[in-house]
Amino acid sequence: IKQQGIEKIKEVTSEQQLNDLKVKFLGKKGQITQALREIVNLPAAERPAAGKLSNTVRDQLQSLITAKQQQLATAALDRKLVDEAIDVTLPGKNYPVGHPHVIQRIIDEIEDIFIGMGYQVLTGPEVEEERYNFEMMNLPKDHPARDMQDTFYITSEILMRTQTSPMQARTLEKHDFSKGPLKMISPGVVFRRDTDDPTHSHQFHQVEGIVIDHHITMADLKGTLAQMLKEMFGDRLEMRLRPSYFPFTEPSVEVDMTCMNCDGKGCLVCKGSGWIEVLGAGMVHPNVLKMAGVDNQEYGGFAFGVGPDRLAMLKYGVTDIRDFYLNNLKFLTQFD
Ligand code: PHE
Repeated sequence: IKQQGIEKIKEVTSEQQLNDLKVKFLGKKGQITQALREIVNLPAAERPAAGKLSNTVRDQLQSLITAKQQQLATAALDRKLVDEAIDVTLPGKNYPVGHPHVIQRIIDEIEDIFIGMGYQVLTGPEVEEERYNFEMMNLPKDHPARDMQDTFYITSEILMRTQTSPMQARTLEKHDFSKGPLKMISPGVVFRRDTDDPTHSHQFHQVEGIVIDHHITMADLKGTLAQMLKEMFGDRLEMRLRPSYFPFTEPSVEVDMTCMNCDGKGCLVCKGSGWIEVLGAGMVHPNVLKMAGVDNQEYGGFAFGVGPDRLAMLKYGVTDIRDFYLNNLKFLTQFD
């Protein structure tokens, strides 16, 4: 029986055959079981030896079967691995993936820089009250500077905001100065009644910024803006302030930076003098603080407005601002 068992188990090639053999030898009616049962018919003297022999054979066959089982399982796994092998050298399929708009990317970059300097980021309404957009920004009703920003009026009191500056008034009104200084930027869309052409769009973006505390000076403004521009365009850039006019800042400045200064952070392309205007800024006008209910003897600070569209045009050499708003994928996917 033992020899026969060993031979048969060797030849087995499937789980099924192995199971059948197990039944044949070790099952309830199996040959070994049978032999064990018949031991009682033997003379008493032979019984212990016969019992011992049968048990050993049973154990041997059992362990052979277990070994074979493992062998079969390993073989099955090997086969499966071969069958399901993946050819990693096949070229992959490309699925189109969306990405943030190039203007949004510039805005994200600006936000990251100012969050790093401890500013909060707030957004405000695009449909704005005339009061916040002009009045509280020190532009009373017949102020000639209102003409600087041709306005889409909805009613005489409601308009499409022409600038993000109304967010200065809105945050100043709410800020609790006993809890610390105000440091805020506010990105968003603004609207002007311009005829669209390569350098004008009736809709574009601004990022407003304002800092109000005790003892803020123009040096703080200059350092902050230099830091922002250097983080965006590289350390080699130089910046200069030119006197300017905004009704809500005094003194007011326009900020120029040098261009064609390529150092791996992107090349700013510009013609002419090598300086390009990128920002409007200044020290917040005492009237703006007063109208928002802030003590302008105690507190003061600076504000600025950046144009992400303009920065994107300079950074990527885009010559027509309208391209940002036409949703032409051929144009937009260049900035993937
Ligand atoms: N709001 C101004 C503009 O649209 C920019 C600006 C913001 C200037 C803040 C000074 C301070 O031109």
